[in-house]
Amino acid sequence: MNAVSTPETLLDVKALDKRFGGLHVTRNVSFALRAGDRLALIGPNGAGKTTLVNQISGVLAPSAGEIWLRGENVTRTSQAGRVRAGLARTFQITTLAPHFPVQRQIELALFEREGLTGRLWRSIDSYPALQAEARDMLARFGLQAHAATPTQDLAYGEQRLIEMALALALRPKVLLLDEPMAGVPKGDGARLLAALDALPRELAVLIIEHDMDLVFRFATRIVVLAEGAVLADGSPEAIRRDPLVRAAYLGG
Ligand SMILES: Nc1ncnc2c1ncn2[C@@H]1O[C@H](COP(=O)(O)OP(=O)(O)O)[C@@H](O)[C@H]1O
Ligand SMILES: [Mg+2]
Repeated sequence: MNAVSTPETLLDVKALDKRFGGLHVTRNVSFALRAGDRLALIGPNGAGKTTLVNQISGVLAPSAGEIWLRGENVTRTSQAGRVRAGLARTFQITTLAPHFPVQRQIELALFEREGLTGRLWRSIDSYPALQAEARDMLARFGLQAHAATPTQDLAYGEQRLIEMALALALRPKVLLLDEPMAGVPKGDGARLLAALDALPRELAVLIIEHDMDLVFRFATRIVVLAEGAVLADGSPEAIRRDPLVRAAYLGG
């Protein structure tokens, strides 16, 4: 018997294929994510990265292939069903309620997780444990001073932090991040990086990111997508040396 147990496979993408009419956007893509993985999905614009994440999260139905989450075939499962099965992706900024104080926004997500949304939400005040959890979460992201600030008054980088906090409030096993640094001013990047570093160890994370410094700092594995297909899948060191990847993407 092995002394060290292999972490559980949480997400298994099997021979995924997606066509939009004549456009073949996902071509026979397979990869698996285990607990604790930090997988970066990289590739040029239009390679099909977002389309892939949209299929995994259930926004788009694949043309062929299967998606398994924690041993369950979720290929035909609704987005909400996949969230219940342990999958979360960063919310789009438009799903934040602009006038809502940050603390309330997080409390609502916790309320949803606990299946309490049927109740009047003023009764959040009678759930001190959830309020404390929301406060802890804000502290973890360095946003405690903004608890009472409406989200619309936060800087863009801080709003992206809130999106990440809302996704984590669901206590996912698998987290999908589609370009979390996009549009974040250089000066605000450090806190997002710190938040990435502070993600729960056992969480499986898939991140789409163009900033190669971040990718090589964060990822334990890299999948390179080109024209919808997996061009390479390996350790950051292997990807950095791969002549195919250098030619196609990293630029010599
Ligand atoms: N709903 C859609 N209908 C038709 N074509 C689409 C749709 N969504 C994406 N595409 C096309 O799929 C290709 C991959 O897009 P995308 O997944 O956004 O790439 P990436 O995220 O890697 O930049 C592009 O050619 C894009 O135009
Ligand atoms: Mg994209």
